Formats: sequence, structure tokens, C-alpha cells
Amino acid sequence: MTTNSLRIAPANTADFRLLARKRLPQQLFDYIDGGSYQEITLANNLNAFSQLSLRQKILRDVSHIDLSYTLFDNKLNMPLILGPVGLAGCYAQRGEQQALKAANKHNIPFCLSTVGICSIEELQAQTNQEFWFQLYVIKDRSYALNLLKRAKQAGCKTLILTVDLPVLASRYRDVRNGLSASEASSTLLGKLKRGLDIATHPSWLWDVAIKGKPLTFGNLTDAVPNANSLDDFKGWVDNQFDASMTWQDLDWIRDNWSGNLIIKGILDSEDAKEAVRLGADAIVVSNHGGRQLDSASATLDILPEIAKTVNQQCKIIVDGGIRSGLDVVKALALGADTCMLGRAWAYALAANGEKGVNQLLNIFENEMRVAMALTGVTKVSDISKDIIVKK
Ligand SMILES: Cc1cc2nc3c(=O)[nH]c(=O)nc-3n(C[C@H](O)[C@H](O)[C@H](O)COP(=O)(O)O)c2cc1C
Repeated sequence: MTTNSLRIAPANTADFRLLARKRLPQQLFDYIDGGSYQEITLANNLNAFSQLSLRQKILRDVSHIDLSYTLFDNKLNMPLILGPVGLAGCYAQRGEQQALKAANKHNIPFCLSTVGICSIEELQAQTNQEFWFQLYVIKDRSYALNLLKRAKQAGCKTLILTVDLPVLASRYRDVRNGLSASEASSTLLGKLKRGLDIATHPSWLWDVAIKGKPLTFGNLTDAVPNANSLDDFKGWVDNQFDASMTWQDLDWIRDNWSGNLIIKGILDSEDAKEAVRLGADAIVVSNHGGRQLDSASATLDILPEIAKTVNQQCKIIVDGGIRSGLDVVKALALGADTCMLGRAWAYALAANGEKGVNQLLNIFENEMRVAMALTGVTKVSDISKDIIVKK
């Protein structure tokens, strides 16, 4: 018997990752797990957290730890957000619905991706709590405007505008698995291999591919009428990345969105200043989870410089490599106001649906509590660089 088969419950994000790998077809697991090119930034995001040491402090009264955090006038249970992750409805049946329920249970925001499987309206029908919407800046500005209107109608008050995809980087795993358009992926052998990958994961096949239909981009169905599968959207989506976009175009978004505006994909102090000038309510220090510019800075490494420049003129959210509550505490200590999860919740969702995401959030909450208690802080606002050991 291997130690693996003795496992009874997932203890951390790494366990959810293993469970997701088992349950998902390889092409989907790799899509979540992988990064661009050599995956240098993906690895550096994780390393930056493991290389930072916390300063243990003893004999403080840490009997009451308060994890609550107020963002845009909403009191959250903890400084955490489930960030935009495309295709979540392919990881578990109507995955965005399940993740939203878990986020609501923990009183933290959930952000629906432009390229979610569930539409804005499908989520709205599921909840009377607010959720966030993420927009990619697409060439078809009238469609973008239409999405903004729909989000507003559904009660979304917070928009994340993702700006780090003017062009699409290559992810080698997706190329090898035939997920990126290539001659090999459309050959009979390519199709057979992808089909075999799916057929050998029957529980996913039943739960998602059969019972989780329609597997289309719910927010984009008006743009591509009569689409029946994700492949039908490919041409439209690939054509919509707008490499000509500039800061002036963001003024257009600001003019058309009266709610909170968050700019996602900032890795440079000058860009952070521009976002503040534009009137952004928050920025996300993000390298898209190491999925775009390989060799871009690890987000934790660049965070202190950006926090210094922003100087509290807008909120700072950070993502990339956050896999535990200890990581959250480290990011807050280096200047983030709150953290956003990507792969961590995607793994948990793939592993065990809503229950998995709930378990993951419980784990994060406990880890944050312990990290705060052992560094001698009892309130989120008291987390500062004093709890980091300087090198
Ligand atoms: C599978 C996957 C899909 C993603 N889809 C989107 C998306 O649709 N929109 C977006 O702004 N970011 C997207 N991201 C990036 C995440 O929002 C986030 O920036 C990143 O995952 C953070 O890194 P982490 O996964 O290491 O936590 C995606 C990331 C992954 C892993």
C-alpha cells in the first residue's frame, strides 16, 4: 500500500492539486496547472513565498484573532477573493455556481471571468449576494459595453479589468496537449488522443461533460450565435485580443463603469501610478499566474516597490503563487491590502466541487489564524513588515 492510498482528507492546496490531477482529463489539468514558456515566473511566484521568513513572536495575548477586513465598504470574513478563472464550469459541474456558493458561505468576493462557462445571469439567478465581474478588453467595444450593462443589471458593483493579455503567450503544455490551434491538434490521431484522455476519466465525463452542459462561454453566446461547443468560440475569442489598447482606452471604461474599478496585471510602479491617476479603486499586482510574460517578476518580489509608490492612494490586491494562509499573511506584510486566489480554488473545485472550495477556504482561514497568532498580531490591520525577517 502506498502512503497515497492511506490519505483520508486533503490537508492543503497541494493535496487538492493531486486530487484535481487524478480527476481531470490531463489536457484540462495542464491548462490549469501550467504556465507560459519555461514556466520560470510560475515557479518564481511560488519560490518567492517559500523564501520569505516570518518572525515568530511569543507571549502576546493572541486569544482573539480578528481576520475580518473591509473592502469597498463591505466587511469580509477574511482578506481573500476568489479571482477570475476561465472555464471553471469545465472543472466541475457548473463550476462557477459552486465556487460562488462557497465564497458566499465564507463571506468573501467571487469574481466571474469573461470566459466563464456560467453566464452573468446564471450566477445572478443563484444568489442574492453580490459577485464581481472580470472583463478582458476586447476589440468589439460595443460587446464590451453590453457585458458591462449586463453586469450592472445583475447587481455587480465591482469590475476587474484585466489588461495583461494584449497578446497571448504560448503555454507549451497546451500546445503538446492539442489545446492550442495547430496542425497536429486537428489530425485524426490528435483528436483520438484527446478523446481517449476524456474517456479514461469517467467520473469527470459524467459529472461535467454530460450533466454539466452546456459547456459554452455563457457570457459570449450572443457574440457567437448557434455555438454548441467551446471550439465554436475559438475564432471569435482569438480575434478579440486588442494589442492596440492604451491608457486612453481605459478612460473609456472609467466613463462607462460607475462602480468600483480594479485594474489587473500591474507589475510596474509607473503603471501603478497611471492606474491611480485614472481613478482605479484598486490594482491587482499580477503576472496572470505566470501564464503571460515568462521571466516577469514574481508578484511578491515587486509588491513592496509598488506599495511604496501607490502609498495608499488605492487598494492593492496581489495574486500569483498564493497557496496557503501563511502566504496571505506574508503578502499583507509586504504591502498588499488583500489577496486573490487563482489555481488554489480551481484545484479545490476540480477535486471536490463546492465542498472542496469550502474545505480550502477553511484551511486558509485556519492557516492565517495560526500565522497571525505566532507572529504576535491579532488584527489584519496590524500585519506589517515587522513580522518579516529581513535578509
Ligand atoms: C486556469 C486559469 C484560468 C484563468 N483565467 C483567467 C481569466 O479568465 N481572467 C483573468 O483575469 N485571469 C485569469 N487567470 C489568472 C488568475 O486570475 C490569477 O491572476 C492567477 O491564477 C494567479 O496565480 P495563481 O494561480 O498562482 O494563484 C487564470 C488563471 C488560471 C490558472
